[in-house]
Amino acid sequence: MSTTIELTGGGAPASAGPAEGGEIRCADLVRIFATDGVEVQALQGLTLTVEPGEIVAVVGASGSGKSTLLTILSGLDTPTGGSAVVAGTDLLTMGHAERVRYQRSTVGFVWQQTSRNLLPYLTATENVRLPLELAGALPRRERARRVEALLELLEVGHVAGRRPGEMSGGEQQRTAIAVAAANNPRVLLADEPTGELDEATSVEVLEALRGVNRETGVTTLIVTHDPTVSEHVARTVQIRDGRTSTETLRRTEVDEHGAERHVAEEFAVVDRVGRLQLPQDFVHALDLRDRVRLALEPDHVGVWPAAPGQTAEPHPPVEPHTPVEPHSPVEPVETPTEEDR
Ligand SMILES: Nc1ncnc2c1ncn2[C@@H]1O[C@H](COP(=O)(O)OP(=O)(O)OP(=O)(O)O)[C@@H](O)[C@H]1O
Ligand SMILES: [Mg+2]
Repeated sequence: MSTTIELTGGGAPASAGPAEGGEIRCADLVRIFATDGVEVQALQGLTLTVEPGEIVAVVGASGSGKSTLLTILSGLDTPTGGSAVVAGTDLLTMGHAERVRYQRSTVGFVWQQTSRNLLPYLTATENVRLPLELAGALPRRERARRVEALLELLEVGHVAGRRPGEMSGGEQQRTAIAVAAANNPRVLLADEPTGELDEATSVEVLEALRGVNRETGVTTLIVTHDPTVSEHVARTVQIRDGRTSTETLRRTEVDEHGAERHVAEEFAVVDRVGRLQLPQDFVHALDLRDRVRLALEPDHVGVWPAAPGQTAEPHPPVEPHTPVEPHSPVEPVETPTEEDR
């Protein structure tokens, strides 16, 4: 599969620019954990903007900072630095009362462990009703109607009277999504919601999240190891070493014969001060290390390995050169259509 890397800018993805607008706005987010005198920089200046109503997947290797990001966005943890604003709430400065309100009604959360999402001694109906009761929302009869509608939306109406132990893993996760969506949150966060499920059940749960996003317009962020998640969402953000490194945008194009095809394009993310991560295969292909030479061309930036002997010089001279073709012209990547799958 060929990969297309394009610097963000102009008609680029929403997260590329400064943190203006957006339901989720993180800029230069830093989270440092200090345990036994050892510092771990879990987030190293992460920048991400998610627009209202968008559904975005966050992928990345184990330890790249995905859960750290979601735990901060859920209001369970506070970042060390940077800024994070969700649905107008500043997560760095909110007080205790505001934090409780934020967790009860602004965000909904689905965890990987099915057992963590639902109370084992309550039925599906009682589990979904609980957050409505805690928030004191809706009169009793309307509550019952809302619970029923949510269970129907998530296609788990048939397990309404069952406890989690009497449901399959997929039914438990879909009920968990109903619980997370109960109070009409503005943002729905899911950390590896399919981590304990087989492939077919994972697809059902991802489709359920997409269905809730479509029906209610709730801004949705799904964290996963699973790279195939990007087939279910229009935008996938890749985290590497605590920073957003690339984004994959999908769209459907109709060709001159009226046939539909899905196109995926990968973009590198540039933060507010112009930093970007070069993809590892580019770095390895040209053995880029320590320092590189850059040149500004009318429509692109060139990156060259420093010539041997130049690596020790503090300021390698920038020599005039002839413009070159971009390394990777934009090449749509064909992906399977719904019918192909
Ligand atoms: N409470 C903590 N104390 C110390 N270090 C932590 C803590 N939580 C996370 N870390 C470290 O921060 C880094 C990022 O962890 P995080 O859990 O966010 O990764 P992840 O991308 O969710 O990984 P996985 O895919 O395995 O769930 C890791 O190096 C981890 O060891
Ligand atoms: Mg994690």
